[in-house]
Amino acid sequence: MEKYILALDQGTTSCRALIIDKKGTIVSSAQKEFKQYFPKPGWVEHDPIEIWSTQAGMAAEATTRKGLNGTNIASIGITNQRETVVVWDKKTGIPVYNAIVWQDKRTSEFCNQLKKQGKEQLIREKTGLVIDSYFSGTKVKWILDNVEGARKRAEDGELILGTIDSWLIWNMTKGALHITDVTNASRTLLYNINSLEWDNELLELMTIPKSMLPTVKQSSEVYGHTSPNFFAVKIPISGIAGDQQAALFGQMCTKKGMVKNTYGTGCFMLMNIGKKPIVSKNNLLTTVAWQINNETHYALEGSVFIAGAVVQWLRDSLKIIKKSSDIEDLASSVDSSEGVYFVPAFAGLGAPHWNQNAQGTIFGLTRGSTDAHIARAAVESIAYQTMDILKAMEADSSISIKELRVDGGATVNNMLMQFQSDVLNTETVRPKIIETTVMGAAYLAGLAVGYWKNTEEIQEIWQADTHFKPNTERKKIEQEIKGWYKAIKALEYWSN
Ligand code: G3P
Repeated sequence: MEKYILALDQGTTSCRALIIDKKGTIVSSAQKEFKQYFPKPGWVEHDPIEIWSTQAGMAAEATTRKGLNGTNIASIGITNQRETVVVWDKKTGIPVYNAIVWQDKRTSEFCNQLKKQGKEQLIREKTGLVIDSYFSGTKVKWILDNVEGARKRAEDGELILGTIDSWLIWNMTKGALHITDVTNASRTLLYNINSLEWDNELLELMTIPKSMLPTVKQSSEVYGHTSPNFFAVKIPISGIAGDQQAALFGQMCTKKGMVKNTYGTGCFMLMNIGKKPIVSKNNLLTTVAWQINNETHYALEGSVFIAGAVVQWLRDSLKIIKKSSDIEDLASSVDSSEGVYFVPAFAGLGAPHWNQNAQGTIFGLTRGSTDAHIARAAVESIAYQTMDILKAMEADSSISIKELRVDGGATVNNMLMQFQSDVLNTETVRPKIIETTVMGAAYLAGLAVGYWKNTEEIQEIWQADTHFKPNTERKKIEQEIKGWYKAIKALEYWSN
């Protein structure tokens, strides 16, 4: 009987389950969106019960659609939206509050206080992160401080916490396993990425009892088995990674200096920096890439807040395209943006500029400018923002990048991919399987149970589809890049 890997991808807006065979082919899949809650401006929540039931439903749907059942599954891998956190009763499994999502800003004020107390350096050195409401720690503190009785119950040892991987596994094993993996732990603001331990000083700073924390495991090992409430037979659970780290592994960026960029609503770029963490001097994050066979790999990470979202804005607000896929034709209908620059700082500017006050701005309009120039400038802005992060990564790591491996929805846009390669003066490589996140989770799970023997065997599954090579005269492109920096500078002046 042929066996498969079941990969669960619990994302910010949907739950997916995919069944993958030895050749890396996706033989079945199921996906469902779930409700987003915005109780106040800047607040974002998910219902943990809905996440669990939707995820379990998708696992059942993906298997049943193909006439498979638990006996066909060699092991399960999990990848998840990172930082989003749940606090629940360790006896009943009932959450005390909704999951507070990574995008939620309610703890910004507390983060400012930490900054005022001068904790930035300490936190950066211990966790590799910056002080920001993005990460889980301050969200847990908020729950303990604001949900009636929560702090007392936590101190009495009744409540536990976890990122979404923990929450799913706790439910898949009916409370037998309260674990997470190093990649997810490294996003909590509570985990020391040097000693690879929960950090007492940080727990004190966030006033979180240690008894609430999950046990931290490797990204690839057999953690335990599913309980019969999930599948009728016991299936090993053997892979966990936060979604961006899973994508880095799914792209097989297993060597120091390899980089992947995922083009979604925003972009997430990660560079494998090997077995030692680097403290960024350019405002990037340092994070755990994965831990396999007791070897820990680290990554530098930078994110672009607005990437695909700028195309949605052209579609929904400016209405110059009907559907997102129309962007390529419109942007390619002109040879250049003719000096038009679009800095889509709708949510401020992220790494490496970090300017919270920046706003979206279009520069360089003339009487001759058309919707096509604006569309082209919007597409180019995605590539320029990616370039800014890559340059910062090169500076931090002293590694000059050989190629950029890309995935995510916007990579179908050949014009963007070509321009990306031109501004980077580096090859941009789009793989055959662009489902790199789920593939990463599947590979991690499969490796632990011998479904794949080693990473070398998996390397053979990863195959390039298109290589975009720089093909524009360097002088010309450098001139264009200068214009981008002028725009960023002008925006900085404007927003101060
Ligand atoms: O850090 C947040 C990230 O993990 C969310 O990813 O793909 O669910 O938006 P995604």
